[in-house]
Amino acid sequence: SEGITIRHLFKKKKEGQKITMVSTYDYISAKLCDEVGIDCVLVGDSLGMVFQGYESTLPVSLDEMIYHTKAVKRGIKRAFLIVDMPFMSYQVSLEEAIRNCGRVMKETGANAVKLEGGEELAELTYRLVNIGIPVVGHLGFTPQSVHALGGYRVVGKKEEEQERVKRSFKALEDAGAFMIVLESVPSSLAREITQASKSITIGIGAGPYCDGQVLVFHDLVGLVEDIKPKFVKRYVEGAKIFRDALRRYKEEVERGIFPSEEESYG
Ligand code: KIV
Ligand code: NA
Repeated sequence: SEGITIRHLFKKKKEGQKITMVSTYDYISAKLCDEVGIDCVLVGDSLGMVFQGYESTLPVSLDEMIYHTKAVKRGIKRAFLIVDMPFMSYQVSLEEAIRNCGRVMKETGANAVKLEGGEELAELTYRLVNIGIPVVGHLGFTPQSVHALGGYRVVGKKEEEQERVKRSFKALEDAGAFMIVLESVPSSLAREITQASKSITIGIGAGPYCDGQVLVFHDLVGLVEDIKPKFVKRYVEGAKIFRDALRRYKEEVERGIFPSEEESYG
């Protein structure tokens, strides 16, 4: 069968089937996601922290996003592919934003772009959707605004913040964003929004009531050990397993056990 489309995703929402998404940055991991039937693969700008080792997502460039997305795309047969537009690639002007989003779509084979922000992105979202570029929104805690938000935290504990998230959701939905990620918001807020939504809601740190869920590959396989937000669940202790393998490899090489005849050419 062909790849997953927006229509498949809306059908899932309508039928109350959860939509699965993984954020990842390379060919091998994307292939694993695709093979097990993850619906959507996101090339997240979290790659700035997880892949590149920066302290935030701000330093990531558009060229780097395109480079990673091309690698991910080659690992995918079926999953719906979404690309994060990095910081400052869509904020300067409508014209520059449209050109950059268009460039991503042309060069990577992605199915949609994702933008962080609220009402201020309504016009851009409307324009993109009307030239055929599907838009995913991202509300609540938006990592590209970490400095303005005052660090990593839950957004929407206070009434005023809740109202802003709801207003932003409505604005993006009305502008044509087919899917909106809700990050680090109280689950009651995510439930209220999802119940009234036409767009698909995808949660991360947003509780169990969204239409779907996203986690970062490296988080869910336990490769990220230094930070573990409450919303991360490690399905395997990847770092421990890999470290153990590396120790055994090191020891075997040092002791002359590996390579043996079995791994050698006659
Ligand atoms: O960059 C990312 O990986 C993301 C998801 C966690 C939503 O934006
Ligand atoms: Na992101």
